[in-house]
Amino acid sequence: VSPVHGGDLDAVARRYGADPASLIDFSANISPFGPPAGVARVLVEYASRPRALAPYPGVSYERLRTRIAERLRIEPEAVVIGHGSAGLIEVALRAETAPTWFVPVPAFSEYRRALRAVGVREQTFALPGDFALDVDAFLRSVRACGDAGALVNTPHNPSGTALERERALALVEGFDRLKRPLIVDEAFIDYAPERSIAREAVRTRHAIVLHSLTKFYALAGVRVGYALAHADTARRMRETGASWPIGSLDEAIVFEALADEAYARQTRLDNERERVALRHSLIALGLHVIPSVANFLLVELALPAERLDVVIDALIQERVIVRDCRSYEGLERRATIRVAVLDGERNRILVNALARVVRLFQRGS
Ligand SMILES: Cc1ncc(COP(=O)(O)O)c(C=O)c1O
Repeated sequence: VSPVHGGDLDAVARRYGADPASLIDFSANISPFGPPAGVARVLVEYASRPRALAPYPGVSYERLRTRIAERLRIEPEAVVIGHGSAGLIEVALRAETAPTWFVPVPAFSEYRRALRAVGVREQTFALPGDFALDVDAFLRSVRACGDAGALVNTPHNPSGTALERERALALVEGFDRLKRPLIVDEAFIDYAPERSIAREAVRTRHAIVLHSLTKFYALAGVRVGYALAHADTARRMRETGASWPIGSLDEAIVFEALADEAYARQTRLDNERERVALRHSLIALGLHVIPSVANFLLVELALPAERLDVVIDALIQERVIVRDCRSYEGLERRATIRVAVLDGERNRILVNALARVVRLFQRGS
Protein backbone atom coordinates (compact mmCIF):
# COMPACT_ATOMS: atom_id res chain seq x y z
CA VAL A 1 0.00 0.00 0.00
CA SER A 2 1.60 3.31 -0.98
CA PRO A 3 1.37 6.18 1.49
CA VAL A 4 -1.24 8.83 0.72
CA HIS A 5 -0.20 12.49 0.84
CA GLY A 6 -1.72 15.88 0.20
CA GLY A 7 -0.09 18.38 -2.12
CA ASP A 8 -0.08 16.36 -5.38
CA LEU A 9 -1.47 19.22 -7.40
CA ASP A 10 -0.48 17.84 -10.80
CA ALA A 11 -2.35 14.56 -10.17
CA VAL A 12 -5.52 16.45 -9.13
CA ALA A 13 -5.23 18.78 -12.12
CA ARG A 14 -4.84 15.82 -14.50
CA ARG A 15 -7.81 14.01 -13.01
CA TYR A 16 -10.09 17.04 -13.30
CA GLY A 17 -8.59 18.42 -16.52
CA ALA A 18 -7.74 21.66 -14.70
CA ASP A 19 -4.75 23.98 -14.96
CA PRO A 20 -2.63 23.32 -11.82
CA ALA A 21 -1.82 27.05 -11.64
CA SER A 22 -5.53 27.83 -11.22
CA LEU A 23 -5.93 25.59 -8.14
CA ILE A 24 -5.44 26.66 -4.53
CA ASP A 25 -3.80 23.91 -2.56
CA PHE A 26 -5.04 23.56 1.01
CA SER A 27 -4.15 19.86 1.04
CA ALA A 28 -0.42 20.21 1.84
CA ASN A 29 0.60 21.84 5.11
CA ILE A 30 3.37 24.05 3.74
CA SER A 31 3.80 27.67 4.85
CA PRO A 32 2.10 30.11 2.42
CA PHE A 33 4.70 32.82 3.08
CA GLY A 34 7.46 31.42 0.86
CA PRO A 35 11.05 30.79 1.99
CA PRO A 36 13.07 33.44 3.89
CA ALA A 37 14.62 36.13 1.64
CA GLY A 38 18.17 34.82 2.17
CA VAL A 39 17.28 31.68 0.21
CA ALA A 40 17.03 33.70 -3.03
CA ARG A 41 20.49 35.19 -2.32
CA VAL A 42 21.97 31.68 -2.03
CA LEU A 43 20.37 30.68 -5.34
CA VAL A 44 21.70 33.79 -7.12
CA GLU A 45 25.16 33.13 -5.72
CA TYR A 46 25.14 29.52 -6.93
CA ALA A 47 23.79 30.58 -10.32
CA SER A 48 26.73 32.95 -10.70
CA ARG A 49 29.25 30.22 -9.89
CA PRO A 50 27.86 26.81 -10.84
CA ARG A 51 31.29 25.26 -10.26
CA ALA A 52 30.45 25.43 -6.54
CA LEU A 53 28.29 22.36 -7.25
CA ALA A 54 31.22 20.24 -8.45
CA PRO A 55 32.56 18.92 -5.10
CA TYR A 56 30.78 16.50 -2.78
CA PRO A 57 29.29 18.09 0.32
CA GLY A 58 31.31 17.50 3.49
CA VAL A 59 30.00 14.18 4.84
CA SER A 60 29.54 15.43 8.39
CA TYR A 61 27.60 18.67 7.55
CA GLU A 62 29.54 20.26 10.42
CA ARG A 63 28.52 23.85 9.65
CA LEU A 64 24.80 23.10 9.43
CA ARG A 65 24.83 20.82 12.48
CA THR A 66 26.56 23.53 14.49
CA ARG A 67 23.98 26.13 13.46
CA ILE A 68 21.11 23.82 14.45
CA ALA A 69 22.83 22.92 17.73
CA GLU A 70 23.42 26.59 18.62
CA ARG A 71 19.77 27.47 18.05
CA LEU A 72 18.63 24.62 20.31
CA ARG A 73 21.49 25.05 22.80
CA ILE A 74 22.67 21.45 22.47
CA GLU A 75 25.89 19.83 21.22
CA PRO A 76 26.46 19.42 17.43
CA GLU A 77 27.22 15.72 18.14
CA ALA A 78 23.49 15.29 18.94
CA VAL A 79 22.39 16.42 15.45
CA VAL A 80 21.89 14.16 12.39
CA ILE A 81 21.11 15.68 8.99
CA GLY A 82 18.70 13.75 6.78
CA HIS A 83 16.77 13.68 3.52
CA GLY A 84 13.71 15.38 5.02
CA SER A 85 12.42 14.31 8.40
CA ALA A 86 10.55 11.55 6.51
CA GLY A 87 13.90 10.16 5.35
CA LEU A 88 15.08 10.01 8.96
CA ILE A 89 12.27 7.75 10.18
CA GLU A 90 13.90 4.64 8.74
CA VAL A 91 17.34 5.75 9.91
CA ALA A 92 15.93 6.17 13.45
CA LEU A 93 14.18 2.76 13.34
CA ARG A 94 17.47 1.10 12.39
CA ALA A 95 19.49 2.91 15.07
CA GLU A 96 17.12 2.15 17.98
CA THR A 97 15.69 -1.27 17.28
CA ALA A 98 12.54 -2.99 18.55
CA PRO A 99 10.44 -5.77 16.96
CA THR A 100 7.17 -3.87 17.61
CA TRP A 101 6.40 -0.15 17.46
CA PHE A 102 3.36 1.53 18.99
CA VAL A 103 1.88 4.27 16.84
CA PRO A 104 -1.02 6.48 17.98
CA VAL A 105 -3.50 6.66 15.09
CA PRO A 106 -4.57 8.43 12.97
CA ALA A 107 -0.96 8.98 11.91
CA PHE A 108 1.24 10.29 9.09
CA SER A 109 1.28 7.55 6.41
CA GLU A 110 5.08 7.46 6.12
CA TYR A 111 5.33 5.77 9.53
CA ARG A 112 3.67 2.62 8.21
CA ARG A 113 5.79 2.67 5.07
CA ALA A 114 9.02 3.01 7.11
CA LEU A 115 8.01 0.32 9.63
CA ARG A 116 7.30 -2.08 6.76
CA ALA A 117 10.52 -1.17 4.97
CA VAL A 118 12.52 -1.95 8.12
CA GLY A 119 10.51 -5.15 8.66
CA VAL A 120 9.07 -4.48 12.13
CA ARG A 121 5.54 -4.80 13.44
CA GLU A 122 3.19 -1.85 13.90
CA GLN A 123 0.89 -1.79 16.92
CA THR A 124 -1.70 0.95 16.56
CA PHE A 125 -3.07 2.84 19.56
CA ALA A 126 -6.36 4.60 18.85
CA LEU A 127 -6.46 8.28 19.82
CA PRO A 128 -9.73 9.53 21.34
CA GLY A 129 -12.13 11.94 19.59
CA ASP A 130 -10.15 15.01 20.69
CA PHE A 131 -6.87 13.39 19.53
CA ALA A 132 -5.21 13.97 22.94
CA LEU A 133 -2.81 11.13 23.71
CA ASP A 134 -3.30 9.73 27.23
CA VAL A 135 0.41 9.38 28.05
CA ASP A 136 -0.09 7.19 31.13
CA ALA A 137 -2.37 4.73 29.32
CA PHE A 138 0.02 4.70 26.38
CA LEU A 139 2.99 3.92 28.64
CA ARG A 140 1.01 1.12 30.31
CA SER A 141 0.23 -0.47 26.91
CA VAL A 142 3.84 -0.25 25.79
CA ARG A 143 5.09 -1.68 29.09
CA ALA A 144 2.64 -4.60 28.81
CA CYS A 145 4.05 -5.53 25.40
CA GLY A 146 7.31 -7.47 25.83
CA ASP A 147 9.70 -5.45 23.71
CA ALA A 148 8.24 -2.42 21.97
CA GLY A 149 9.20 1.09 20.98
CA ALA A 150 6.91 3.96 19.99
CA LEU A 151 6.60 6.58 17.29
CA VAL A 152 4.68 9.63 18.49
CA ASN A 153 3.87 12.79 16.56
CA THR A 154 3.40 16.18 18.24
CA PRO A 155 2.08 18.58 16.95
CA HIS A 156 -0.03 15.85 15.49
CA ASN A 157 -0.85 15.39 11.82
CA PRO A 158 -3.74 15.46 10.84
CA SER A 159 -5.35 17.09 13.93
CA GLY A 160 -2.86 19.88 14.76
CA THR A 161 -3.17 19.14 18.48
CA ALA A 162 0.02 19.02 20.55
CA LEU A 163 0.99 17.41 23.82
CA GLU A 164 1.48 19.85 26.69
CA ARG A 165 5.22 20.07 27.32
CA GLU A 166 4.84 18.49 30.73
CA ARG A 167 2.99 15.48 29.18
CA ALA A 168 5.59 15.14 26.42
CA LEU A 169 8.32 15.15 29.07
CA ALA A 170 6.46 12.43 31.00
CA LEU A 171 6.47 10.38 27.78
CA VAL A 172 10.24 10.80 27.31
CA GLU A 173 10.94 9.99 30.97
CA GLY A 174 8.61 6.98 30.88
CA PHE A 175 10.41 5.48 27.88
CA ASP A 176 13.76 6.24 29.46
CA ARG A 177 12.72 4.36 32.60
CA LEU A 178 11.48 1.44 30.49
CA LYS A 179 14.72 1.58 28.47
CA ARG A 180 12.62 1.43 25.29
CA PRO A 181 13.14 3.43 22.08
CA LEU A 182 10.93 6.44 21.45
CA ILE A 183 10.80 8.50 18.26
CA VAL A 184 9.07 11.86 18.67
CA ASP A 185 8.19 13.48 15.36
CA GLU A 186 8.18 17.25 15.97
CA ALA A 187 7.94 18.15 12.25
CA PHE A 188 5.57 21.06 13.05
CA ILE A 189 7.19 22.19 16.31
CA ASP A 190 8.38 25.51 14.85
CA TYR A 191 4.76 26.65 15.25
CA ALA A 192 4.88 25.89 19.00
CA PRO A 193 8.59 25.82 19.92
CA GLU A 194 7.85 26.22 23.64
CA ARG A 195 6.44 22.67 23.61
CA SER A 196 9.57 21.00 22.20
CA ILE A 197 11.21 18.32 24.32
CA ALA A 198 14.27 18.02 22.07
CA ARG A 199 16.74 19.41 24.62
CA GLU A 200 15.59 16.96 27.30
CA ALA A 201 15.39 14.03 24.86
CA VAL A 202 19.06 14.27 23.84
CA ARG A 203 20.03 13.76 27.47
CA THR A 204 18.29 10.36 27.56
CA ARG A 205 19.61 7.18 25.91
CA HIS A 206 16.70 6.02 23.76
CA ALA A 207 14.75 9.02 22.48
CA ILE A 208 15.12 10.42 18.95
CA VAL A 209 13.39 13.67 17.98
CA LEU A 210 12.71 14.53 14.34
CA HIS A 211 12.48 18.10 13.03
CA SER A 212 11.54 19.22 9.53
CA LEU A 213 12.82 22.24 7.61
CA THR A 214 10.38 21.85 4.76
CA LYS A 215 6.97 22.95 6.08
CA PHE A 216 7.71 25.96 8.24
CA TYR A 217 10.31 27.41 5.83
CA ALA A 218 8.30 26.58 2.68
CA LEU A 219 11.17 24.46 1.35
CA ALA A 220 9.53 21.08 0.72
CA GLY A 221 11.35 20.90 -2.62
CA VAL A 222 14.71 21.01 -0.87
CA ARG A 223 14.14 17.91 1.31
CA VAL A 224 16.12 18.60 4.49
CA GLY A 225 15.29 17.53 8.01
CA TYR A 226 17.28 16.64 11.09
CA ALA A 227 17.18 14.31 14.06
CA LEU A 228 18.25 15.03 17.62
CA ALA A 229 19.43 12.25 19.88
CA HIS A 230 21.98 11.26 22.49
CA ALA A 231 25.47 11.63 20.93
CA ASP A 232 25.95 7.82 20.81
CA THR A 233 22.62 7.24 19.06
CA ALA A 234 23.25 10.18 16.72
CA ARG A 235 26.64 8.72 15.77
CA ARG A 236 25.00 5.35 15.01
CA MET A 237 22.41 7.12 12.86
CA ARG A 238 25.10 8.97 10.92
CA GLU A 239 27.02 5.71 10.41
CA THR A 240 24.03 3.69 9.21
CA GLY A 241 22.21 6.39 7.19
CA ALA A 242 23.07 7.45 3.64
CA SER A 243 26.49 9.08 3.24
CA TRP A 244 25.33 12.27 1.51
CA PRO A 245 21.65 12.60 2.39
CA ILE A 246 21.53 16.22 1.17
CA GLY A 247 23.46 18.24 -1.43
CA SER A 248 25.68 21.25 -0.80
CA LEU A 249 23.10 23.59 -2.34
CA ASP A 250 20.43 22.15 -0.01
CA GLU A 251 22.80 22.68 2.92
CA ALA A 252 23.53 26.29 1.94
CA ILE A 253 19.80 27.03 1.52
CA VAL A 254 18.68 25.72 4.92
CA PHE A 255 21.76 27.19 6.63
CA GLU A 256 20.60 30.60 5.43
CA ALA A 257 16.93 29.95 6.26
CA LEU A 258 17.76 28.99 9.84
CA ALA A 259 19.64 32.27 10.41
CA ASP A 260 16.48 34.31 9.86
CA GLU A 261 14.97 34.63 13.33
CA ALA A 262 12.74 37.52 12.26
CA TYR A 263 11.17 35.34 9.55
CA ALA A 264 10.47 32.61 12.11
CA ARG A 265 8.86 35.07 14.56
CA GLN A 266 6.73 36.66 11.85
CA THR A 267 5.62 33.29 10.45
CA ARG A 268 4.44 32.21 13.90
CA LEU A 269 2.52 35.45 14.41
CA ASP A 270 0.94 35.41 10.94
CA ASN A 271 0.01 31.75 11.22
CA GLU A 272 -1.59 32.20 14.62
CA ARG A 273 -3.63 35.20 13.49
CA GLU A 274 -4.84 33.44 10.32
CA ARG A 275 -5.44 30.13 12.08
CA VAL A 276 -7.66 31.72 14.73
CA ALA A 277 -9.60 33.68 12.09
CA LEU A 278 -10.03 30.66 9.82
CA ARG A 279 -11.13 28.42 12.67
CA HIS A 280 -13.76 30.96 13.77
CA SER A 281 -15.07 31.31 10.21
CA LEU A 282 -15.34 27.53 9.80
CA ILE A 283 -17.08 27.13 13.14
CA ALA A 284 -19.50 29.87 12.08
CA LEU A 285 -20.42 27.64 9.11
CA GLY A 286 -21.47 24.99 11.61
CA LEU A 287 -18.41 22.81 11.04
CA HIS A 288 -16.58 20.96 13.80
CA VAL A 289 -12.95 22.17 13.91
CA ILE A 290 -10.31 20.64 16.18
CA PRO A 291 -8.20 23.26 18.04
CA SER A 292 -4.75 23.27 16.42
CA VAL A 293 -1.34 24.77 17.24
CA ALA A 294 0.03 24.07 13.75
CA ASN A 295 -0.56 25.47 10.25
CA PHE A 296 -3.52 23.26 9.39
CA LEU A 297 -6.97 22.45 10.72
CA LEU A 298 -8.90 19.19 10.85
CA VAL A 299 -12.54 19.86 9.95
CA GLU A 300 -15.43 17.44 10.32
CA LEU A 301 -18.55 17.81 8.21
CA ALA A 302 -21.92 16.62 9.45
CA LEU A 303 -22.36 14.20 6.54
CA PRO A 304 -22.02 10.46 6.05
CA ALA A 305 -18.40 9.67 5.07
CA GLU A 306 -19.49 8.44 1.59
CA ARG A 307 -20.78 11.93 0.73
CA LEU A 308 -17.29 13.41 1.10
CA ASP A 309 -16.45 12.54 -2.53
CA VAL A 310 -19.09 14.93 -3.86
CA VAL A 311 -18.01 17.63 -1.39
CA ILE A 312 -14.40 17.33 -2.53
CA ASP A 313 -15.45 17.40 -6.20
CA ALA A 314 -17.59 20.48 -5.58
CA LEU A 315 -14.68 22.21 -3.84
CA ILE A 316 -12.40 21.46 -6.79
CA GLN A 317 -14.98 23.14 -9.06
CA GLU A 318 -14.35 26.16 -6.79
CA ARG A 319 -10.54 25.70 -7.41
CA VAL A 320 -10.02 24.58 -3.81
CA ILE A 321 -8.15 21.37 -2.97
CA VAL A 322 -8.43 19.94 0.53
CA ARG A 323 -6.99 16.78 2.07
CA ASP A 324 -9.52 13.94 2.23
CA CYS A 325 -8.71 12.33 5.59
CA ARG A 326 -10.53 9.03 5.03
CA SER A 327 -7.16 7.44 4.16
CA TYR A 328 -6.07 7.87 7.80
CA GLU A 329 -6.63 4.88 10.06
CA GLY A 330 -9.48 5.74 12.44
CA LEU A 331 -10.98 8.39 10.14
CA GLU A 332 -12.22 6.08 7.36
CA ARG A 333 -15.84 6.42 8.38
CA ARG A 334 -15.86 10.13 9.14
CA ALA A 335 -16.31 13.04 6.75
CA THR A 336 -13.13 14.84 7.79
CA ILE A 337 -10.89 17.06 5.70
CA ARG A 338 -7.61 18.77 6.58
CA VAL A 339 -7.05 22.30 5.36
CA ALA A 340 -3.82 24.29 5.46
CA VAL A 341 -3.89 27.75 7.01
CA LEU A 342 -2.81 30.02 4.14
CA ASP A 343 -2.93 33.84 3.91
CA GLY A 344 -6.07 35.86 4.64
CA GLU A 345 -7.11 36.24 1.01
CA ARG A 346 -6.87 32.56 0.13
CA ASN A 347 -8.42 31.49 3.44
CA ARG A 348 -11.45 33.64 2.57
CA ILE A 349 -11.75 31.82 -0.77
CA LEU A 350 -11.78 28.53 1.16
CA VAL A 351 -14.43 29.75 3.61
CA ASN A 352 -16.67 31.05 0.81
CA ALA A 353 -16.29 27.84 -1.18
CA LEU A 354 -17.06 25.72 1.87
CA ALA A 355 -20.03 27.92 2.74
CA ARG A 356 -21.57 27.30 -0.71
CA VAL A 357 -20.79 23.59 -0.68
CA VAL A 358 -22.09 23.03 2.85
CA ARG A 359 -25.32 24.90 1.97
CA LEU A 360 -25.73 22.79 -1.15
CA PHE A 361 -25.31 19.53 0.70
CA GLN A 362 -27.41 20.51 3.63
CA ARG A 363 -30.20 21.30 1.21
CA GLY A 364 -29.57 18.11 -0.74
CA SER A 365 -29.23 15.85 2.28
C1 LIG B 1 3.98 14.47 10.81
C2 LIG B 1 4.92 14.62 9.69
N1 LIG B 1 6.19 14.27 9.88
C3 LIG B 1 7.10 14.39 8.90
C4 LIG B 1 6.74 14.86 7.66
C5 LIG B 1 7.76 14.89 6.57
O1 LIG B 1 8.38 16.11 6.45
P1 LIG B 1 9.69 16.30 5.62
O2 LIG B 1 9.33 17.14 4.45
O3 LIG B 1 10.66 16.97 6.55
O4 LIG B 1 10.21 14.95 5.20
C6 LIG B 1 5.42 15.24 7.41
C7 LIG B 1 5.00 15.71 6.10
O5 LIG B 1 3.85 15.84 5.79
C8 LIG B 1 4.49 15.11 8.47
O6 LIG B 1 3.21 15.44 8.29
